[in-house]
Amino acid sequence: MKREHWGSRLGFIMAAAGSAIGLGNIWKFPYMAGENGGAAFIIIYLGIVFTIGLSLMLAEITIGRHTQSDAINAFKKFNRPAWSFIGILGIVTAFVIFSFYSVVAGWTIAYVVKSATGAFSGMDAAAIGDTFGGFVSSTVQPIVYHGIFAALTVLVVLGGVSGGIERASKILMPVLFLILIALVVRGVTLPGAEKGLEFFLSPDFSKITASTVMAALGQAFFSLSLGMGVILTYGSYLGKEANIGRSAWQIALLDTMVAILAGLAILPAVFAFNMDPAAGPGLTFVTLPAVFEAMPGGYFFSIIFFVLLTIAALTSSISLLEPIVSFFSTKGFTRTQATIGAGVLAFLIGIPSSLSLGAWSDIHIIKGQGFLDSASWLTDKILLPVGGLLICLFVGWVITPIAIREVSGEGEPSALVKAWIFILRFIAPIAIVMILLTGLEIVTL
Ligand code: PFF
Repeated sequence: MKREHWGSRLGFIMAAAGSAIGLGNIWKFPYMAGENGGAAFIIIYLGIVFTIGLSLMLAEITIGRHTQSDAINAFKKFNRPAWSFIGILGIVTAFVIFSFYSVVAGWTIAYVVKSATGAFSGMDAAAIGDTFGGFVSSTVQPIVYHGIFAALTVLVVLGGVSGGIERASKILMPVLFLILIALVVRGVTLPGAEKGLEFFLSPDFSKITASTVMAALGQAFFSLSLGMGVILTYGSYLGKEANIGRSAWQIALLDTMVAILAGLAILPAVFAFNMDPAAGPGLTFVTLPAVFEAMPGGYFFSIIFFVLLTIAALTSSISLLEPIVSFFSTKGFTRTQATIGAGVLAFLIGIPSSLSLGAWSDIHIIKGQGFLDSASWLTDKILLPVGGLLICLFVGWVITPIAIREVSGEGEPSALVKAWIFILRFIAPIAIVMILLTGLEIVTL
C-alpha cells in the first residue's frame, strides 16, 4: 500500500506544531516559569530547546522521512531490529501519556461548558477552588468528559493523515493563535499588568539551581513531543523534497512562541488581580476562572481561553494516537479498526487516572502518588528521557552517515549539521542521563 503523505510542508508544520503545542505550553509552562525564577527560567529553557530539543526533533524527523515507516518498523528498515525497541517503548509511552492527558483535556471541555453557563458567576477564588475539587474528585462526570475528548481524537484520526490530521490542524492552529493573541492583548492591557510582565520578563537567576535546569529539560522534551516516535511518525509522511532542517526549526520556534505568549496572557492577568502566580496546576482551573470573574469581559475571555486549551490538547492527542494507528495498520488491521481499537483502549487506560483524584485516591502507584501523578512522573522522568536518549545515540552513533545525507543531501555537511551530530553524540546524552539519574534520585541535586 502506498504511504500517505502530507498535502504540503505547511500542513506538516501545522500538524507537528499542533502536536508540540498543547497543555504543556499553556497549562504547565506559565506556572513552571512562575515558580522557577521567571525570565531566568525562560532563558535556560530557550537554550535547551534550541540545542538539545531541536537536535532531537531533527533526529526523529530524519529517521521517519528516510524510512517512510512507523516508529517500530523504521528501525528494522535500517537492519537494526534490536533498536525497534525504541518504537515499542514509544507506543507504550503514547498510551501512558494519553491516559492522563485526555483526562485533563476532558476538564478543559467541562470548563468551556462551565464558563458558558456562568457556573462560577459571583464566586471568589476559594469557592471556585472548592468547585474544582468537587468536580475532579467526582466519579462519573470527569470520565464522561474524558470519553468525549477521546472520541473527538478518534474522529480526527479516522479521517487519515492529510484528510483528518492535516485538515484539522490547518484550521485549528490559526484559530489557536488568534485566541491566544486576543488573550495576550486583554491580559497586558489590564491595570496592574506591569507587575506580571516584570515577574515574567525580569530574570531572577538566584532561583536557578541544577534541579531547575533538569525541570526545564524535562519540560522541553514534553513540550516538543520528543522521545517517543510521534515526530518520527509525522516525519514519515514527508516527501523527499521537504527541507527537514528548516521544518524542525520552525516547529520548535512556534512551540516556544506559544509557551511564552501563554505566559504573557496569563501572568499579567494573575498579577492584576493580586492572585498567586505560583499556584501550580491550580493556576489554570482555579486562579484563572477567578481572574476571569473579576475582569471586564471575563465571561467571553473565559470561554475562549478554555476553547484554546481544548484545541491545543486535541491537536496533541491526535499525534499520540497516530503512531499507534500507523503501526497497527501494518499488522493487518484497517485504519478504521486500528483507530477505534486504540482509541477505546486509550480511553480505558485513562479511567484509573481520572478516578485517582477521587474514588481511588487511596491507591498509590509510584512514590506514594496516584495513577494520574504516577503516569505523569513516569513519562517525564523515565519514558521520554529513555526514548530520547536512545534516539540520540541511534542517529549520533549508529546511522550517522545516512542521517547526514538525509539532512544535507550529497554536498559537504555544513557547520550546523556537524554541530547537530556533536550535540546528538555528546551533549544531549549527558544531559539526558542527568535527568534520569536525578529523576530516579540516584543523584540528588
Ligand atoms: N507536546 C504536548 C504538550 O506540550 O502538551 C504533549 C505531548 C503530545 C507529548 C504528544 C508527547 C507527545 F507525543
